Amino acid sequence: MAVIADRCPDIKVTVVDLNEERISAWNHHDLSCLPVYEPGLDAVVGRARSRNLHFTTEVNQAIAEADMIFLSVNTPTKTRGVGAGQASDLRWIEASARQVAAAANGHTIVVEKSTLPVRTAEAVKAILAAAQGDTGGSKTFSVLSNPEFLAEGTAIADLESPDRVLIGGEDAAAIEALAAVYGHWVPAERILRTNLWSSELSKLTANAFLAQRISSINAIASLCEATGADVREVARAIGTDSRIGPKFLQAGPGYGGSCFQKDILNLVYLCRHYGLEEAASYWESVVTLNTWQQQRIARLVVNSLFGTVSGKRIAVLGFAFKADTNDTREAPAIRICRDLIEEGAQLAIVDPKVEAGQMARDLEKAPVTPDQARMGIPLGGEGTWTHEASPLEAARGADAVLILTEWKDYRQLDWQALHAVMRRPAWLFDARAVADPVAARASGLNVWRVGEG
Ligand code: UDX
Repeated sequence: MAVIADRCPDIKVTVVDLNEERISAWNHHDLSCLPVYEPGLDAVVGRARSRNLHFTTEVNQAIAEADMIFLSVNTPTKTRGVGAGQASDLRWIEASARQVAAAANGHTIVVEKSTLPVRTAEAVKAILAAAQGDTGGSKTFSVLSNPEFLAEGTAIADLESPDRVLIGGEDAAAIEALAAVYGHWVPAERILRTNLWSSELSKLTANAFLAQRISSINAIASLCEATGADVREVARAIGTDSRIGPKFLQAGPGYGGSCFQKDILNLVYLCRHYGLEEAASYWESVVTLNTWQQQRIARLVVNSLFGTVSGKRIAVLGFAFKADTNDTREAPAIRICRDLIEEGAQLAIVDPKVEAGQMARDLEKAPVTPDQARMGIPLGGEGTWTHEASPLEAARGADAVLILTEWKDYRQLDWQALHAVMRRPAWLFDARAVADPVAARASGLNVWRVGEG
């Protein structure tokens, strides 16, 4: 919405949320206090805020004034009831649709921005149609699907120059109204129009294909490690085939993020719902492989450290699900750290953007202080974790360094200095293959890199 406001000074954009704390953070005069860390976002908000971009908790008033409303609420995986663990929880979409139905005025275009299971628009339409009927047609609605393809960390660039904008719907006038918004800065040939269901399904499919590439390369990485091949050489060799292409072929600790897992599970649920068992289990295997990759890395660390990490200190570099974000949703670090703590390890975790409180929520475990950690824990005792200020502090006294996020800083670490403060024999497990392996080996470290045989 900030980018739309930035690119369309003639359009008034109002972002509403029930959460007062969030809204006041978005209104904070200091742009470094915005609630989301995203490179370049502060500048965009800074340009548009108080001009044509507003943040408020006056939800009903904003709905009443709007010609077009983007529903951009959470649709997490259901944790209970029918479809638990796979289907999307649509309670917030439904609640938003009901509020829009009640508060809207005149003709309103309702745009589904949240990622939704196919045919959700039907439910949204039904709720809006009921309101339309109740008022004898004084309020009318059109529903569009306009899924978002931005990736975190590159969101601003992705929005300013999207590969495509997808608009699904049946009402030609509404489609053209939304196309005109994007038309302020997106070339006409990149604005694709489809029917509602194709648009909803395209979002799930795009994420499923991307995640499937990562699971595929991670499967090959394990084979490279077993056979003496190097997954980066294989990725380069296959990526030069123009049909395959070079992107999304980085082996790593498995994909994370708010979308991939949720969307594939959703796809699996839909396939099963329609009786397509083979299609369901095909997509399900992408998730299985991803979980396996995370467990495999935790196991590999344990096995390399003589079969036990109990009481051993392991420096974990990076907790975010990828670089340039403070987002930890579904981060591979969560499962890997939990597995290591379960094995009794003493983790020393550092991340340039993730706060200790977030790590504690994700690990469902409070940290111990660095002082407590220094006193050590009894062998065979429960694992612990500390939040550390720098890779050097984390490495102090550690048996191993484990890199889980590809932060730029980790490409230029001083391995001599790190190795000097570690306990010998010391290990580097580079699950992102970002560290300089020559420098790390030269410092005396044993080095494991994902996908390197
Ligand atoms: C993704 C989609 O890219 C985006 O189009 C959609 O709108 C939302 O979901 P995002 O989750 O922000 O975006 O991040 P993305 O860059 O796709 O990375 C997802 C995960 O895959 C990260 O954990 C990343 O580290 C991992 N990844 C990505 C790899 O392991 N290897 C790769 O080659 C690429």
